[in-house]
Amino acid sequence: MSKALSIFLDQARAYLMQQQDLFGNTIYTEGAGKKPPDTRADTIPYPDEPWVSAESLPDLYDQIHECLKCPLGQTRTRFVFGTGNLRADVMFIGEAPGADEDAQGEPFVGKAGQLLNKIIEAIGMKREEVYICNILKCRPPNNRDPETLEMETCSPYLLKQIELIRPKFIICLGRISAQWLLQTNESLTALRSRTHAFKGSTLIVTYHPAALLRNPNWKRPAWEDMKLFMGLYEQSKKEKLT
Ligand code: URA
Repeated sequence: MSKALSIFLDQARAYLMQQQDLFGNTIYTEGAGKKPPDTRADTIPYPDEPWVSAESLPDLYDQIHECLKCPLGQTRTRFVFGTGNLRADVMFIGEAPGADEDAQGEPFVGKAGQLLNKIIEAIGMKREEVYICNILKCRPPNNRDPETLEMETCSPYLLKQIELIRPKFIICLGRISAQWLLQTNESLTALRSRTHAFKGSTLIVTYHPAALLRNPNWKRPAWEDMKLFMGLYEQSKKEKLT
């Protein structure tokens, strides 16, 4: 073996061992699938509150569903906790309940929810198999965007849900949930088409179904996002078998 080849192989070995230390046995290449470092602290705020030690989602629900920490608690009809498989591999996170969700107490049950159901079917899954929830558990009046204080107050509940479910994948539906979870001002375009690390999950960002209803031209790029997810999900299932 030439000296140059031997040096190259030593460097390659050192690099791969460093990657293994960081990311385990998965090799992350440049571009789609690259795994950057976590962007948000791994701790849940409000350490002194009893619900922080909830050991299951039903337990958490029991402790928080009468929440009045922010003014939305006064105006909501129903507290919209979240729905689906308590051990889901995949968690979809939207923004906040709308009128239909507020009335029924379940996320994504209106028109945007019907489209989300179709997206979930298109990726070969069932609504009951995944977990669906929002950054906010209560409806903002007139469907306005969530305010920062509301998200600050409510998102610890979501962080606890993520901690209890420990999904392999989180799919953020729309700019607001993605920017909030990743604590960034980057645009939706900049956040899509790549993966983000979030509390042990791989986070993918795509369009909000309501945006797809408003602008069907975004359905094609949204499908690209789902293909990115499906590829990574298949890969993760194969890794589990080996
Ligand atoms: N939009 C959301 O972000 N969440 C819902 O639950 C419904 C519509």
